[in-house]
Amino acid sequence: MRIYQEKDYNAMSRRAAAVIAAQVVSKPDCVLGLATGSSPVGTYKQLIQWHEQGDLSFAEVCSVNLDEYYGLAPDHDQSYRYFMQTNLFDHVDIVPENTNVPSGLAKDPAEECARYEQVVRELGYADLQLLGMGRNGHIGFNEPCDCFPLATHLVDLTESTIEANARFFASANDVPRQALTMGIGTIMKARKILVVVSGEDKAEAVWKAFRGPIVPEVPASILQLHPDVTLVGDVSALSRLTEDHE
Ligand code: F6R
Repeated sequence: MRIYQEKDYNAMSRRAAAVIAAQVVSKPDCVLGLATGSSPVGTYKQLIQWHEQGDLSFAEVCSVNLDEYYGLAPDHDQSYRYFMQTNLFDHVDIVPENTNVPSGLAKDPAEECARYEQVVRELGYADLQLLGMGRNGHIGFNEPCDCFPLATHLVDLTESTIEANARFFASANDVPRQALTMGIGTIMKARKILVVVSGEDKAEAVWKAFRGPIVPEVPASILQLHPDVTLVGDVSALSRLTEDHE
């Protein structure tokens, strides 16, 4: 595993963007697995800047997002489709038809999960999957549980995730209770994984994920079994990992 400890959120974002840009430059028609949340916002800003400078094109890229809230329309300002449009897609030259996010409005979520899994499979899975990590060690919306779910599926969000995401909604009551998410198996089939983490409140989850036992109670711990993981974090998020080496 490669670890980049950066001084702050901006430096973390530039480093993560450089890893993504290297992927796009070396394989312009790559499949990028993308994430939402506060961790990758700065990364997307940097990618947009390089695109605007003429240094980076997404014209041949296909994207697959990790997850979507179940019940939110694509134009709902808290949906993950809306997040991707406003934080990246609307500002770069990616072809809209080449961007994939699970549909939050599907009548039959099981059918939508099967369809989405097939889309990702037919694209050959992600060349590079970008991940944030929850404070409880979740990746995508794979919450701590007693098994590692393999394929795209519908999940009930835990109270801690609802609480963590309430900051984006008028109140915790407005946070959807379910989401569609790629499974751990779908994520692990990516050829490369890039994890971005910032802030003191992630330090324990990072330590458990990369130094603790591989257990489904800490979904991100499965990444220890992936052959190509790059972890980019700020000093606070990586503080416990680096303490290990002192
Ligand atoms: C987002 C996602 C989540 C977030 C995680 C961290 O698509 O799948 O796993 O990456 O909840 O969120 P932030 O970055 O807001 O701390």
